[in-house]
Amino acid sequence: MKGGNIIKLRGGHLSIVLVVLMLATILLWAWDKSYFASFLPVTREQFMIPVSEYVVNVSNRSSISTKPKEEMGKSEDEIAKLEDKMKERSNNTDEKDQPGLLIQKKEQPGKSTNYSDAGSVSKPTPPLKESEDGVTSSSSSKVCNYAKGRWVEDSRRPWYSGLQCKKWLSIMWACRLTKRKDFSYEGYRWQPENCYMPEFERSSFLRRMQDKTIAFIGDSLGRQQFQSLMCMLTGGEENPEVDDVGREYGLAKAPGALRPDGWVYRFRNTNTTILYYWSASLSDLEPLNRSDRATNIAMHLDRPPAFMRKFFQQFDVLVLNTGHHWNRGKLEGNRWVMYADGKPAEEKKPLDMGNAKNLTVYSVVRWVESQLPLHPRNLKVFFRTISPRHFFNGDWNTGGSCDNKIPLLGGNEVVQDGSTDIVVQNAVKGTKVKILDITAISQLRDEAHVSRYTRRAILNTSDCLHWCMPGVPDTWNELLIAQI
Ligand SMILES: *[C@@H]1O[C@H](CO)[C@@H](O)[C@H](O)[C@H]1NC(C)=O
Ligand SMILES: *[C@@H]1O[C@H](CO)[C@@H](O)[C@H](O)[C@H]1NC(C)=O
Ligand SMILES: *[C@@H]1O[C@H](CO)[C@@H](O)[C@H](O)[C@H]1NC(C)=O
Ligand SMILES: *[C@@H]1O[C@H](CO)[C@@H](O)[C@H](O)[C@H]1NC(C)=O
Ligand SMILES: *[C@@H]1O[C@H](CO)[C@@H](O)[C@H](O)[C@H]1NC(C)=O
Ligand SMILES: *[C@@H]1O[C@H](CO)[C@@H](O)[C@H](O)[C@H]1NC(C)=O
Ligand SMILES: *[C@@H]1O[C@H](CO)[C@@H](O)[C@H](O)[C@H]1NC(C)=O
Ligand SMILES: *[C@@H]1O[C@H](CO)[C@@H](O)[C@H](O)[C@H]1NC(C)=O
Repeated sequence: MKGGNIIKLRGGHLSIVLVVLMLATILLWAWDKSYFASFLPVTREQFMIPVSEYVVNVSNRSSISTKPKEEMGKSEDEIAKLEDKMKERSNNTDEKDQPGLLIQKKEQPGKSTNYSDAGSVSKPTPPLKESEDGVTSSSSSKVCNYAKGRWVEDSRRPWYSGLQCKKWLSIMWACRLTKRKDFSYEGYRWQPENCYMPEFERSSFLRRMQDKTIAFIGDSLGRQQFQSLMCMLTGGEENPEVDDVGREYGLAKAPGALRPDGWVYRFRNTNTTILYYWSASLSDLEPLNRSDRATNIAMHLDRPPAFMRKFFQQFDVLVLNTGHHWNRGKLEGNRWVMYADGKPAEEKKPLDMGNAKNLTVYSVVRWVESQLPLHPRNLKVFFRTISPRHFFNGDWNTGGSCDNKIPLLGGNEVVQDGSTDIVVQNAVKGTKVKILDITAISQLRDEAHVSRYTRRAILNTSDCLHWCMPGVPDTWNELLIAQI
């Protein structure tokens, strides 16, 4: 695998095979954009990516401990911009984006071992009992934890063609449309260790979701999951009976905006609605001066987005995520000013970004808890954990790349019980909000990012944040569907 700064771990008993990981260091740049030219509160989708760095302690394979370090800048997708440019002419200006992040990978050499734990055959293990998402249990109980298990090759994947699903899939993520020639990343299925995973079948799923609304609210990784679901439900076909009902949610593209803040589609036969709303910080954004286009925007850490509050009662399934915008670069680029309790949160002293994110995640969960008893439907809310980045030997703008194409070099299995995303795990603990834990699972898939096959001709950079599709986000949806 080229491009990996591999540091061998010393210390003897790494008996294992496992692998991995990284440490990241980050740098932030100022991301100065003049985005937003137009209508607020609508930010454009400017993606920055988060950064979270995790140090994985490999010395005990059966209980990997991860410590989130401070979040810093990341670059998420500039690719979005790229797409913006390609799809619509934008008036918009500069292009100096991305904050940086350096991740060094610590890797344990060689995968020699035997993933013996669960009897080696890659066969679905029968269901036992469903747990609260396996957040806690520590022993080797046979509790169903969807995040614990292994990747297995499966010729029945993918669910749709990356060449055909043009209607819902952004071209920047459709790696079949790029120069990439290897597609082995499309052919894997996640097999939880102790859970029954019925095979996804689109018509039966749609029937089950008759008259229901599935909503995704979050950053561009949430958008990937939304697009994935649209492709899975249509098989990528051009002409399924699907209507664009964004207007019902006020999501038509505003004049001057590059794109709407979200999309909503409805399947005519079953009256199933699938919605995505872009809210990278899961906090409420409020322009401080509505008559000033260049105004700063209050980002209320303790208040969920107005869109979410407004339409909450109409949802049957809600999938939240945030993570890649919690850095100074993104804040400055978006002119977001953090507020808490209705007041500027940094007048006295700067707020630690990790704490700010934590406050928001807890606030959103608390708000959802307070609303659920009043909810007219049997709403199920999931908080999706952070999607890992895999920039090696640099960041997005310093030559960082993810060129490995060999699947599962770092192992195919997740054996830890808890989530690597401590913030989300702790925030949902004891609440009715479920964790959709995809972090450790996705961490094993460094080969499945868009990588250097971005559509930007000029910059020689890689997108090691977003995933090629079909691919990993489809698995997130399979895990979601299994738990709905
Ligand atoms: C890794 O785990 C071992 C034992 O589990 C512990 O002794 C060591 O301090 C840990 N290292 C770090 C960096 O957490
Ligand atoms: C390693 O993990 C196992 C299983 O979680 C645990 O029982 C054991 O105490 C851990 N060992 C160390 C050194 O942390
Ligand atoms: C914005 O785009 C429109 C249409 O492409 C163009 O006519 C206009 O001049 C542009 N404005 C600026 C400020 O570039
Ligand atoms: C791997 O597991 C198989 C089956 O459990 C066992 O027969 C074999 O000896 C193991 N190999 C190693 C290197 O442990
Ligand atoms: C479609 O589903 C919604 C609930 O999401 C329901 O209110 C509406 O009546 C349904 N429409 C039809 C035509 O059945
Ligand atoms: C709001 O912005 C307008 C236009 O820039 C400016 O004239 C006005 O003074 C601002 N209002 C406040 C309260 O700052
Ligand atoms: C996150 O916020 C919760 C609630 O305020 C607090 O209990 C917890 O300690 C915080 N966690 C971190 C890592 O700051
Ligand atoms: C882009 O990066 C690759 C790998 O780092 C390098 O081989 C190639 O020469 C670079 N191309 C340009 C135009 O800089």
